[in-house]
Amino acid sequence: MSMLKSAPKPKIILDTDPGGDDSFAFLWLISLVKQNLAELVAVTSVDGNVQAQLTFTGSCKLLTLCGFNQIEVGRGVMGGSKTDDVNDAGAIHGSDGMGNLSQTLPEANQIYESARYSDDLLIEKLKDLPGEITIIAIGPLTNLAAAERKSPGVLNLAKEIVIMGGAFQVPGNTTPEAEFNIAYDPAAAKLVFSCAKQIVVLPLDVTRNLIFTPEMAQSVAAVDPENSIGQFIISLCQFMVGTALAFRETNGISGFLVHDAATLAYLFYPEVLLFRRAQVWIETQGEWTCGKTLFDNRNKTKVGCNAWVAMEVDSINLLAALIEDLKLLLSQTAR
Ligand code: BDR
Ligand code: CA
Repeated sequence: MSMLKSAPKPKIILDTDPGGDDSFAFLWLISLVKQNLAELVAVTSVDGNVQAQLTFTGSCKLLTLCGFNQIEVGRGVMGGSKTDDVNDAGAIHGSDGMGNLSQTLPEANQIYESARYSDDLLIEKLKDLPGEITIIAIGPLTNLAAAERKSPGVLNLAKEIVIMGGAFQVPGNTTPEAEFNIAYDPAAAKLVFSCAKQIVVLPLDVTRNLIFTPEMAQSVAAVDPENSIGQFIISLCQFMVGTALAFRETNGISGFLVHDAATLAYLFYPEVLLFRRAQVWIETQGEWTCGKTLFDNRNKTKVGCNAWVAMEVDSINLLAALIEDLKLLLSQTAR
C-alpha cells in the first residue's frame, strides 16, 4: 500500500500570452488536467508577446485543439507600462505569437469583442474560491495588477501565484537587465510583488537551461503521427528554433527555450527545482534598469520576504517530464 497521501488537485487559472513557450506550457497543463491531476478553472489572456486580440485567439484555439473549448477565456486588459524601447516579441514567436501556425488550428467559438476582461474573470474566480486558486502567470502581469487595482486585496485570495519572470543573477533578455514579462509592464509587476504574499518565481536564471529540441518534438509526435497536436508541436518547435538561433538564445544549440513550462514543473515535479526565499523588488525608475528584478544578497538582517525564487533546475528531468506528459496528451486526445 502506498504511504503517499493524495493532496487535492490544484485549481488553476492560466494567465498567458501565447507565445511559443506559452503554447508548450499550455499543452503540458492540459495533459495534467486530462490525467486528473489539475483542474483548469479559466484562462486569462494578456497583452504581451503579441497584442491582446491575438493572445486571446491563440488561447481559444489551443483549448479547442485539445477539446477544452468550454473553458472561459478572458481578454487582456490594456494599459501596460512598458517604455518605448520595449517591443512585443512577435519577432521571436511569430506575428500571431504561434509561429504563424494559428491558421492551421481549429476555429474557436469564443468571441474577443464579447469576452469578459481578464481582470474581471480573475476577481470573480478568486472571490468564488478564496484560498483555492493557483494562478500561473506566464506573461506580463498586467491582468493581475488590474485585478488588484479594481479589487484591493483580491490577489491574496489566491492560494499561490506562480510567475515566470525576472532575471536575478543573469542578464536580461529584453534589456541588459530586464526579462520580457517584467519589462513589458514594470508597474504591474511592482504592484503584484508589493501586495501578494504567496509568490513563486521562475526566472531566466533557471529557464535559460530549458532547451527543447526538434528531436524531442519528434519523439512526442511519434506516439501518433497523424495527431494534429503532435504536428503542431513539431511545426511550432521548428519555427521557434529558427528564431532562437537567430537571437542566439541557446548557445548555438538547435532548440528553443521553454521558459513558461518551468511553472508547471514547480507545481507537478518540484524535485527538479531548488528555491531560495527572498524579498523581490522591481525597478521601475532606473534609466538603464527599468524592469529589473532584484533581491538583497548581502549578509544583513532582512525583515520579511515576499517570494520563493527558483535558483537551480534539473533541466534533463524537467524536459523528460514535459515530453512524457505531451506523449500522454497525444495518446488521450482524438486526432
Ligand atoms: C518570457 O517572455 C516571453 O517572450 C515568453 O513567452 C516568456 O513568458 C521569457 O522571458
Ligand atoms: Ca509567455
